[in-house]
Amino acid sequence: MLVKYSPATSCAFSSSSRHHCYHNRSHFACAPKSSPFPSWVLRSAESSLPSRYVCVRSSFQEDSGSSSHPQEMTTTHGVSETIIGVLGGGQLGRMLCQAASKMALKIVILDPMENCPASSLSYQHVVGNFKDGDAVCEFAKRCGVLTVEIEHVDAITLEKLEQQGIDCQPKASTIRIIQDKYSQKVYFSQHSIPLPDFMEINNLASAEKAGELFGYPLMIKSKRLAYDGRGNAVAHKKEDLSSIVNSLGGFEHGLYVEKWTPFVKELSVIVARSRDGSTLCYPVVETVHKDNICHVVEAPADIPEKTKKLSIDIAQKAVGSLEGAGVFAVELFLTQDGQVLLNEVAPRPHNSGHHTIESCYTSQYEHHLRAILGLPLGDPSLKTPAAIMYNILGEVDYQISYRHQYISGDYNTKSCNFSEFICLFSQREKRGLR
Ligand SMILES: Nc1ncnc2c1ncn2[C@@H]1O[C@H](COP(=O)(O)OP(=O)(O)OP(=O)(O)O)[C@@H](O)[C@H]1O
Ligand SMILES: [Mg+2]
Repeated sequence: MLVKYSPATSCAFSSSSRHHCYHNRSHFACAPKSSPFPSWVLRSAESSLPSRYVCVRSSFQEDSGSSSHPQEMTTTHGVSETIIGVLGGGQLGRMLCQAASKMALKIVILDPMENCPASSLSYQHVVGNFKDGDAVCEFAKRCGVLTVEIEHVDAITLEKLEQQGIDCQPKASTIRIIQDKYSQKVYFSQHSIPLPDFMEINNLASAEKAGELFGYPLMIKSKRLAYDGRGNAVAHKKEDLSSIVNSLGGFEHGLYVEKWTPFVKELSVIVARSRDGSTLCYPVVETVHKDNICHVVEAPADIPEKTKKLSIDIAQKAVGSLEGAGVFAVELFLTQDGQVLLNEVAPRPHNSGHHTIESCYTSQYEHHLRAILGLPLGDPSLKTPAAIMYNILGEVDYQISYRHQYISGDYNTKSCNFSEFICLFSQREKRGLR
């Protein structure tokens, strides 16, 4: 087995504000070089919950005239002069910055954490809250195009900015629909996208009614601000409903239920959509979740051709119904009888597409930048027979040893050559394995 390492990069996160919520997500992916089996990428992540608008820290001083990069302020040498504004500076923002640097594009980010993952790689980091309308409006003045790396932003402000002529990609309407999982489900059902049955619940009587209609287990979901399964809970019987609802913050928090889908696989399709509406799809991948967090991504998914086609059709139809350019991830369930149902759509690069950096001709990050800038789309096909992204949470030592177990246990038996790509993030605050 040939294992090739690249030096790990690390990023430490401040934990100074009680508004901040940290979790450590390390993605360790494997993409094969010439054999059907993978090489690895280790990546990790950080997610933040914003605090209020704090201050602006830029990579240059606009008013001093003594910038260490005076030329940089006025000149770009990349494929586009447009300054790209990204709401959020987490791991996805960081990888957007990495892709931007290859094309000499300039990304400015808005994120409340001074040491957020994208901060050191961005052209400018405005320290502020992407949920704060004033902060977003102020930030937009710096940008030729505005995009997101997280959907939990102030969509109402984005809609107002669009009316004032600010270029948001994808469109604010898309962010607004998607950031509320229930409105997303309503929207896609109106566009005839196959979904698990779902129903809004406002009180115990309606929750019990849903239980009678859909049976148990019953998936209860928060409408908003959910990620990594936080905001989801399963009721196994009628008697669970009350406590589960309380654990999710009560009915006033905004809840709905979904019929339990006994899927045989979870699939994901990343779709790149250009400004003229044309789309390209990456190969369908399988995602395996552990504790509601994406644990492994296998590309391409080991599924029949007709399932691949069905998945891509559904993904294209779902993304085609939305407005704006960029990369979208379509999470899907495959059922025993070959049905494919949409779980949810993310209007941005996605953890099921990290592997594309090394395994595809054009990564999802480069595609997102190309799409929002109106540049021609690239080639989403795999340049290697297969790839695996492995997400390891927790201490670095634990991550490394777990990775070796994984390689030797699951892949070494296939006696193949590995190319391995590593990217580590870490932060000061750790919670168990997170
Ligand atoms: N209706 C359902 N039936 C069965 N399992 C489900 C259902 N909905 C969600 N799940 C499981 O829970 C996981 C997380 O659900 P969901 O995608 O709604 O949460 P999330 O918080 O958006 O997660 P992520 O940020 O990882 O996408 C899914 O990937 C799937 O494994
Ligand atoms: Mg999901």
